[in-house]
Amino acid sequence: MPRRPSRSAHRSRPVRHAVVAGAILSLALPAAATADQRRGIEGEELSGPAISADATASGGAVALLRVSRRARVLPTPLVAAPAVRLRVGGCRGRLRIGTTTRSMRTVRLRAGWQVVSAPADPGAPIAGVRLARPAGTAGCRHLRLDRIDVDVPPIPLAASVLSGPMRTDARYRKAYLDTFDGLTPENALKMNAARPTPDGYAFEDADELVDDSTAERRPVRGHTLVFDRQLPSWLVNPLLPWTRDTLLGVLRDHVTENVARYRGRVDRWDVVNEAVGIDGRQKTTFWSQGIGTDYIDWAFRFAHAADPTTRLVYNDAGIERPGAHQDGVFRLLSALLARGVPVEGVGLQGHIDPSAPPTAAELDATITRFADLGLRVEITEADVPLGGPATPERIAAQTETYRRLATACWRHVACDRMTVWGVADTASWMGVKASATLLDAAYRPKPALEATRRALAGER
Ligand code: XIL
Repeated sequence: MPRRPSRSAHRSRPVRHAVVAGAILSLALPAAATADQRRGIEGEELSGPAISADATASGGAVALLRVSRRARVLPTPLVAAPAVRLRVGGCRGRLRIGTTTRSMRTVRLRAGWQVVSAPADPGAPIAGVRLARPAGTAGCRHLRLDRIDVDVPPIPLAASVLSGPMRTDARYRKAYLDTFDGLTPENALKMNAARPTPDGYAFEDADELVDDSTAERRPVRGHTLVFDRQLPSWLVNPLLPWTRDTLLGVLRDHVTENVARYRGRVDRWDVVNEAVGIDGRQKTTFWSQGIGTDYIDWAFRFAHAADPTTRLVYNDAGIERPGAHQDGVFRLLSALLARGVPVEGVGLQGHIDPSAPPTAAELDATITRFADLGLRVEITEADVPLGGPATPERIAAQTETYRRLATACWRHVACDRMTVWGVADTASWMGVKASATLLDAAYRPKPALEATRRALAGER
């Protein structure tokens, strides 16, 4: 196996600043603080170029700086611990500082401006920074804050990977390793590939991708357990017709076998793919006909039983912008959640029609809508065909569309990975001429790659 190149500069952790010049936080606890005062009241909104924070001074006892959406940090154990640094002044004596995920510690403040920092747990998003005056101290009643720095790791950029070229084509493999942080097996886990016969699984291709990736600590998305396409012929043309029970048994075995096999190695699964039509109605599929529309409930429940730790995702195309299709997915997911079905995320595939890309506002509204249901959101299969011969205008439009997807993900704490569909144009399901991916046919990066990377790090 060729030597793996080390991952390059894009792993560095950018620091986001919120300049909050001169904000005064009261750390003095009034003698008779009410419960409400202790809990906190909304303070002034402090915003900076890349992050924003709400200062909340609670009756004086604890000042909570809520690091908000745009100062997102990744809830993934694959990245180093984020940290928050504050530049403070106007106070002598002792100060207690912690994040909402780490306990408070006491620091000694001298006169003048100085930096105090609060590390957060790896794997935990920073919801806020807590500041307090140590009990029984007289000093340090008012603290001036002029800047918050948050180390925010970039959002990982992953790609779908084909087993064949990954194994045999050194350029493809190197391009993947040099460019991307993780992968989705593009076809190796689809049912026709992973379950070619009624009683036989074929995991060699998927194993190779998963083993390789997890050895590198690059995350793997599982794709996809239940889909109406790429089904094996023994399933769709059975010798004896399926009954509801026998087909439910097939579904259970398939989901369980896959999810249990990759437990601890595949950190999220597309459990059900493309089950809603563009009219918003649940599609009539092989599965719905054989089992009933509740096949979706069953699939998520079987997956959860096989690995309660992996994230279970519903994935669909064409739902990046509001409309009937998105409404249908929203209704489906709301109903699943109301029934207690363990669905945890929604995948926005992101196969974008270049003649009608979603606007930034539409993407924001979409992510907010699903995140407000309590779901995580991901961009799972992004590609943007040029839509014609490569003119500067088309290249600029492609770059802007990729940037928009990445920016939308960055802006929401709920979104923590962006995956593009295909390592390079040579391997794109849309064909090389569509020029839809981030690397051209000679594996050269397109402007869209740089734009995507920058946006995933919170930069323009
Ligand atoms: C595509 C693959 O890229 C092709 O190689 C294969 O021939 C067909 O499937 N939405 C999905 C993916 O969820 O599984 C599809 O992948 C692309 C559209």
